[in-house]
Amino acid sequence: MGESVSVLIDQKKVEERIAELGAEISRDYAGRSLHMICILKGGVMFMCELAKHVTIPMTMDFMCCSSYGGGTVSKGIVKIVKDLDEPIEGRDVLIVEDIIDTGRTLSHLFKILEQRKPASLKLCTLLDKPERRVVDDVNVDYTGFQVEDEFVVGYGLDYDQRYRNLPYIGVIHFDD
Ligand code: IMP
Ligand code: MG
Repeated sequence: MGESVSVLIDQKKVEERIAELGAEISRDYAGRSLHMICILKGGVMFMCELAKHVTIPMTMDFMCCSSYGGGTVSKGIVKIVKDLDEPIEGRDVLIVEDIIDTGRTLSHLFKILEQRKPASLKLCTLLDKPERRVVDDVNVDYTGFQVEDEFVVGYGLDYDQRYRNLPYIGVIHFDD
């Protein structure tokens, strides 16, 4: 059984789009400071690249969540594996995520973070699969790219913890 990955969005396109998002975010938050929260592990490469293009004062924190059960479909019950280091009360918070699929993870996470009373709470995702959404309460403020219902890897996204290092977004194929 073999796997192969084909390029869906090449590195240049990914990084140009991230630069645009960084500029847009910097304009939108002008005069304020931004607290960016990276959702580990998938959001890490996106967060690093995005942060390079944010020109307003900013801070970073990291959170690691896991949904119960394995496989490629999330169940929406989110367990906090690593919580934030700092309080977010009164701060302008931007969640940085790799991909919104069913939306269950973010729907749950939003509720948890809103209880901590940030001044604002917005969501930035590298990829969005709108066709797959099963919740209606996830509002994405910044999207890198919309993708079809295919399993994508690279730029932080994994299949079985692998392929996160690819500098592009790829689609995984299985041949047996
Ligand atoms: P959701 O709760 O269904 O929105 O799940 C979102 C999470 O599932 C993401 O943060 C990813 O970790 C994972 N995920 C969903 N689709 C993909 C994919 O195509 N490739 C890699 N991971 C994915
Ligand atoms: Mg993830």
